[in-house]
Amino acid sequence: MESSDIAGDLTTILVTEQQIHDKLDELAAQIDSDYEGKDLLLVGVLKGAVMVMADLSRAMKKHVSIDWMAVSSYGAGTKSSGVVQIRKDLDSDLTGRHVLIVEDIIDSGLTLSWLLENFASRGAASIEVCALLRKPEAAKVQIDCKYVGFDIPTDFVVGYGLDFDERYRNLRDVAVLAPHVYS
Ligand code: XMP
Ligand code: MG
Repeated sequence: MESSDIAGDLTTILVTEQQIHDKLDELAAQIDSDYEGKDLLLVGVLKGAVMVMADLSRAMKKHVSIDWMAVSSYGAGTKSSGVVQIRKDLDSDLTGRHVLIVEDIIDSGLTLSWLLENFASRGAASIEVCALLRKPEAAKVQIDCKYVGFDIPTDFVVGYGLDFDERYRNLRDVAVLAPHVYS
């Protein structure tokens, strides 16, 4: 992406590509060790988690299965509605599986809390969450997230899979979106 495309749209770079990769290496090693001897299914939440899934799963030594789910709780705005709709369901049966949900970001926590309840009803043996980013001050429900990359302020961020209105997903860093873009 040309920097002129984004000039003025982003305020600060919050997490750099290098910081992301160092952190994902750390989390991958921890997950490898926690799930030693167990089959693990990584479930990525589309579309934001695509980059995290690609880099986290390849940083792991373990062989894992990967599946995807698409849900929506956002429109073109920047606030979670709390109303979650399944746009694409899993292909896998979760019965008896060890599941690790891979997310880009936990904001209000509403999407994940809904997903956790939904997955629990499908009979998984265990369910944990790995999120690259978390906004602690935006939490409306408490999510027990075992693997967290970075706690960040409540600003709306884009890049590394995160979008505003489908743009900026392919930025390599995570950056704060300038308020004039969405207000
Ligand atoms: P909740 O509020 O339910 O939101 O935890 C989770 C989903 O909302 C999206 N989200 C964001 N997307 N920049 C984005 O590009 C952000 O700052 C942001 N905050 C929340 C994201 O899809 C996440 O999975
Ligand atoms: Mg998401």
